[in-house]
Amino acid sequence: MESKIYENKNYITRPYKSFFKYKRFDVIKKYIKKDQTILDVGCSKGQLLYFLNKKIKHRFNYVGIDDCIKSIQIANNFFKENSINRYKFIKKDLLKYKSKNLFDLIIISGVLSYYNDYNGILRKFKNLLKKDGTILIFNKFHSGDDDLIIRLKKDKIFNYGMNIFSKKNFIKNLKNNFNKIEFQRFNIQLKRKINKFNTKSLKINKINYFYNDALKVLYEFYYVSLKK
Ligand SMILES: C[S@@+](CC[C@H](N)C(=O)[O-])C[C@H]1O[C@@H](n2cnc3c(N)ncnc32)[C@H](O)[C@@H]1O
Repeated sequence: MESKIYENKNYITRPYKSFFKYKRFDVIKKYIKKDQTILDVGCSKGQLLYFLNKKIKHRFNYVGIDDCIKSIQIANNFFKENSINRYKFIKKDLLKYKSKNLFDLIIISGVLSYYNDYNGILRKFKNLLKKDGTILIFNKFHSGDDDLIIRLKKDKIFNYGMNIFSKKNFIKNLKNNFNKIEFQRFNIQLKRKINKFNTKSLKINKINYFYNDALKVLYEFYYVSLKK
């Protein structure tokens, strides 16, 4: 099986406001122009929409898809109560998602690591992009040659979403599909947490890496912008 959805309890239970500290949302904000149409792939309970509505003055249209029914229910209830408009949340496996409308910006944040092979996903969403549109990916990568396909067994349950791809492989594959590719290191400081499954910052020779006690692999975060 390629991907299995498990409920990300941390995302589901946290208040919307707590996501304001997410630096990736500040990056995304800069990409959104007036009246653009945005697709948020793996939108969870719509924390990005909450952030954008508070921070962006101009109008934009938003579609969020996620396969987790609980997240989509929370999103639909929350945004209805808060009377925020021009949005749509759809409960859908991203591999099965279809749309007649094309998008200016497609965001795939923290989602690719659920898959063993990202190429089909990138090709699929490239086809949903307007001519000058952008795909924006946030993901972790490591500097080795091979993709790491990781399934973490915790309390007898397999956790997905942990795969760490080789940056070199990723760039090589992107070149087959996209004309314009930009890789930016995404540097954040993560405080040391007790849970061995949490990502932590680790400084080596003045370079900031990320580390997870359970996986024992060093990785880096990047955001990648792609144009057709
Ligand atoms: C780590 S969370 C990231 C949430 C959000 N994009 C962000 O950056 O804060 C990953 C999300 O992807 C969703 N997801 C994983 N596989 C999916 C699939 N096949 N189809 C739709 N959503 C999926 C999960 O349910 C989860 O909400």
